[in-house]
Amino acid sequence: MKFFIDTANLDQIKEAQELGVLDGVTTNPSLMAKEGITGRDNILKHYVDICNIVDGDVSAEVIATDFEGMIKEGQELADLHEQIVVKLPMIKDGVKACKYFSDNGVKTNVTLVFSPGQALLAAKAGATYVSPFLGRLDDISTDGLNLIEEIRMIYDNYGYETEILAASIRHTMHVINCAKIGADVMTGPLSSITGLLSHPLTDIGLEKFLADYKKGNS
Ligand code: G3P
Repeated sequence: MKFFIDTANLDQIKEAQELGVLDGVTTNPSLMAKEGITGRDNILKHYVDICNIVDGDVSAEVIATDFEGMIKEGQELADLHEQIVVKLPMIKDGVKACKYFSDNGVKTNVTLVFSPGQALLAAKAGATYVSPFLGRLDDISTDGLNLIEEIRMIYDNYGYETEILAASIRHTMHVINCAKIGADVMTGPLSSITGLLSHPLTDIGLEKFLADYKKGNS
């Protein structure tokens, strides 16, 4: 399972990268705004800064919602760095743009996916990644994990190579449950990755090992 971090915060990206388990980064306009990154030039520079920290794929989202605009903007993003994946919304022109980019060798991430039918369309359009939003479905009392399960079944039925990128992950149990279901990638906040480290028995066990070592070597 690949681990992506879902943030535009460079310190958090560095921390996850230094842990040695990071496979990529996802961003969106809200995450950019949260870091105070505004203005086209600053946003483009920020994507390059992120690419220079991580080794893997970095999703950069288009703002345009029409086909021509998405192609222009997506190409500009793709030209920034070889690690850039063009993130496109699941709307009619987004699907068309996805097909265009996949036919032209540009990686894509189809985002804002909330149904198996949308995921099927993204796969047929050749998306590199599809991003079902788990947490936002849970927020409205709908089983987000069930969506991941349905997409897994559909993709496996036909051997689609589109990777299921479980997004809107909020906590460690989302990560673990997505791993059980077979999501290819998860993207979540730093806490959803570092939270996997913790277990009280690990801390108690280590404390005892060190205390016993000290006894025998003092
Ligand atoms: O990757 C999608 C993500 O950024 C949305 O997460 O927590 O805003 O639902 P959230």
